Amino acid sequence: MKTETKQAVNKQRVLPPVFQYPSAAVPLLITQGAEALLYRSTYLLPSIPCALKYRPSKPYRHPILDVRLTKHRILSEARVLVKCKREGVPVPAVYALDEAAGWLMIEWIEGEVVRIRLNEWLKRRKDEDLAEGVDDEQLLELMTRVGSAVGRLHAVGVVHGDLTTSNLMLRPRSREGLNGDLGAAVNTLEGDIVLIDFGLASQSQADEDRAVDLYVLERAFGSTHPRAESLFGEVLREYGKSFKGANVVLKKLEEVRMRGRKRSMIG
Ligand SMILES: Nc1ncnc2c1ncn2[C@@H]1O[C@H](COP(=O)(O)OP(=O)(O)O)[C@@H](O)[C@H]1O
Ligand SMILES: [Mg+2]
Repeated sequence: MKTETKQAVNKQRVLPPVFQYPSAAVPLLITQGAEALLYRSTYLLPSIPCALKYRPSKPYRHPILDVRLTKHRILSEARVLVKCKREGVPVPAVYALDEAAGWLMIEWIEGEVVRIRLNEWLKRRKDEDLAEGVDDEQLLELMTRVGSAVGRLHAVGVVHGDLTTSNLMLRPRSREGLNGDLGAAVNTLEGDIVLIDFGLASQSQADEDRAVDLYVLERAFGSTHPRAESLFGEVLREYGKSFKGANVVLKKLEEVRMRGRKRSMIG
């Protein structure tokens, strides 16, 4: 490794001062994505957990471009989150940010992403040897809540840009999850949908953009389980009811699917 590259890699490990701020809990690394590191810490009081999304500089990018890109991503994610929150779309609240230092601090969402919760649930059902279709009610209800959350997002003029089951969280309602029987809560699909990860989001009312959001989500559910894909119709049914113009988007989705199929045939 060349010396400059090594230095750049080391520099990337130096965390901004917010990570050492006296009132903050020692940040705990939760996940490391391609673009961002996600830490759990606290905000103002030790009793208020927060998620700290840090975008370290990329040593292979031109430094000026790198700073500009990081600033842009953080500001745009924060802007969209604030707009969604104000308009009643279920997203984490924004607590603080420093776009120059590369971090965004948002509300910590209890619970788990839908992908994991759904896999656990499907596995349990398989282990218990329940016939297909048993308990489908819970799956259908989950799909309904997802359709409604995405509909609300689109209704306020925001498209997500990366709508996968890892970017949808299932937050237990306090009664069931936190005080009640936690073991039982883990094995259910109950809870409120909270949309996260707005790094690729944009403000758009275009049917095409909205349809692509739905298409990406449909594929994500499909890769979890064929059964989940067949139940995706429930997401669309609820989505169709969620705002004026949603049905036009559903029509557009058929076009987007066709294009997707053609593309995969060509390879
Ligand atoms: N506000 C939050 N509360 C709790 N966990 C979160 C929160 N935001 C993100 N996470 C967790 O961190 C993971 C990565 O965060 P995300 O915003 O999706 O970044 P990335 O761009 O790396 O996918 C999520 O899949 C989720 O498990
Ligand atoms: Mg993500």
